[in-house]
Amino acid sequence: MPPNVEARVTRDYRATTNPQDRIYSSEELIAAAAGHEAIFCCSSEKFSADVIKRLPESVAIVATLSVGFEHIDVDAARERGLVVTNTPEVLTDATADVTMLCLLGAARRGAEGDRLVRAGGWVGWHTTMMLGTHVSGKRLGIYGMGRIGRAVAQRARGFDMEIHYHNRSRLSAELEHGGVYHARVEDLLAVSEFLSINAPSTAQTLKFLNAERIARLPDGAVVVNTARGNMVDDEALIAALRSGKLAAAGLDVFDGEPNLNPQYRELDNTFLLPHLGSATVETRDAMGFCCLDNLDAYFAGQACPNALT
Ligand code: 8YV
Repeated sequence: MPPNVEARVTRDYRATTNPQDRIYSSEELIAAAAGHEAIFCCSSEKFSADVIKRLPESVAIVATLSVGFEHIDVDAARERGLVVTNTPEVLTDATADVTMLCLLGAARRGAEGDRLVRAGGWVGWHTTMMLGTHVSGKRLGIYGMGRIGRAVAQRARGFDMEIHYHNRSRLSAELEHGGVYHARVEDLLAVSEFLSINAPSTAQTLKFLNAERIARLPDGAVVVNTARGNMVDDEALIAALRSGKLAAAGLDVFDGEPNLNPQYRELDNTFLLPHLGSATVETRDAMGFCCLDNLDAYFAGQACPNALT
């Protein structure tokens, strides 16, 4: 945990930390929880129904330092009477910033240019050198218009992009800010010169971007994913990046990360980040404090502000 967060943990709790800072297996997680009332974890720790069932009786609350909670079987937790809390809102801006970084990095070949300069391969400037995809005036399709999707739209409007979106339900005019709602995802795809995935990972959104949907995007589109890797069919995306159907992809998240499909590394038209969405000092502190606020509330006998169960 960030130093400021750890300082508050050790000030207020008798905490056992994960001394090697490595991801625990299910068995290790269950063993480490013995004698503890609370677990303060990240999205890397998986709480399946089986793990939840086998957690020591003493464990009453799991506070995850993430807005996403697909790593926790919330129904199983509810059934067991286990409180689960997450960290919404505090990472919205940071994640939307990284979405724009991925969008611009992919469109303007940011990583490729960096590699060229570092490798000493920049031999001179010429008018057709490393031409990218123009952003201003283009249509940005946002799949998932929750807090992060809306923050991406706000930033993209500053780049003169035209906002289109798909969401389970249409937003109010106030939240929509002139964005065009598409009730059918296929209609969103057809207009998305840029596509940004900002929906939560659920059984319904698993492998959302598959070959059939990629085929509906305009030729030369740019795909951005800062949500979860399992919402993309990697083989289909890689094939489209290789064939030129898609101009580029900016990806901060990967199925099975950190063990991403190695073909992404071979492609020049990918802009790849190691899940940096919420990685600012300010945001990680705020996420940690949010978890601790939830734990404090629970142990004070109050309602947790971010309870999911
Ligand atoms: C976290 C995230 O940093 O909050 C989320 O859902 O994806 C990231 O911003 C990460 O999951 C750590 O738990």
